[in-house]
Amino acid sequence: MQIVNLIDKLYKNNDLDYGEILFILTHMEKEEKNYLIQKSNETRMKVYGNKVYMRGLIEFTNYCKIDCKYCGINGRNKNVERYRLSLEDILKCCDIGYKLGYRTFVLQGGEDPYNSDDRIVNMVTEIKNRYPDTAITLSIGEKSYESYEKYYKAGADRYLLRHETASRELFERIHIHSDYDNRLKCLWDLKKIGYQVGTGFMVGIPTQTKEDLVKDLLLLKKLAPEMVGIGPFIPHKDTVYRNETGGSLEDTITMIALTRLFLPNALLPATTALGSIQPFGREQGIKAGANVVMPNLSPTSVREKYSLYNGKICTGDEAAECRSCIENRIASAGFTMDMSRGDHIQWRSKI
Ligand code: 5AD
Ligand code: FES
Repeated sequence: MQIVNLIDKLYKNNDLDYGEILFILTHMEKEEKNYLIQKSNETRMKVYGNKVYMRGLIEFTNYCKIDCKYCGINGRNKNVERYRLSLEDILKCCDIGYKLGYRTFVLQGGEDPYNSDDRIVNMVTEIKNRYPDTAITLSIGEKSYESYEKYYKAGADRYLLRHETASRELFERIHIHSDYDNRLKCLWDLKKIGYQVGTGFMVGIPTQTKEDLVKDLLLLKKLAPEMVGIGPFIPHKDTVYRNETGGSLEDTITMIALTRLFLPNALLPATTALGSIQPFGREQGIKAGANVVMPNLSPTSVREKYSLYNGKICTGDEAAECRSCIENRIASAGFTMDMSRGDHIQWRSKI
């Protein structure tokens, strides 16, 4: 079958099998890539129109007890200056964000043992009390079912936990202590509890193959998450992968576009990592079907310290600067910024 026919089939059925996806990834040429992007964009326009949803990202702790080999803030990196924002600091970020119009706050951090369930519950409760019309997204790693349930009951709406790679072998190679089965269990638990769930993966991880990327798409299809974060792997100077080549913009864009066709209703961020490898990376992501951006609301004093990979953008910019920068970028790509909560389309009637 021709690649274009396969893309049409995917556009129509939102599904392809292993061999078909692998065929696309192996043989797709430039013109067919453009066709894929066009179809992905059409799909997004049908579901979400030309809106790009904004999330205010607060990186509230860079302490981390685990050892993801690719990540700059992994627990074994002695060169990281560790920080932890107090509840008061976090609420200040929310105040600034709320005034700027944000109605989703993403609380992201390393797996920091200091943040007991009680502290997380308290943080979520305080933010929700102050700003009941916002959505709270947590992104703090693998926890037990009971912990996830506590956060949900306190008012957390969404949870981000990337699977990183759907290849068990690769997952085990790049994580020292994390367990593939547990990662997947966490994702299913989150779904069961009722969160809008975000997962995702990196493109261009050292030794990652096209077959591995096919598995990512098939896993997404099975899990049907509400959000999918896809970004290029970028080496970090203090990790074993310091001298490796990072993922390319082109490959990442291809995976975003394919994901949009597999999951038409998904919320897909144009990630900071995408913007970090090329000045207009996020714009290209948006044009290829991404419909979310997550500008940084963390205090500028800590931004440099949340360094997952080299060359991260926006480390010196105030929240207001990031917001207007992003607004211009969205407009230049031909889209419109939307500051509402921006829930998944099938969630809107439930809220
Ligand atoms: N390059 C790109 N993305 C990274 N992340 C962590 N380290 C890197 C890196 N070196 C991503 C992971 C994680 C998310 C918060 O950041 O996918 O889930
Ligand atoms: Fe942060 Fe452009 S989005 S400065």
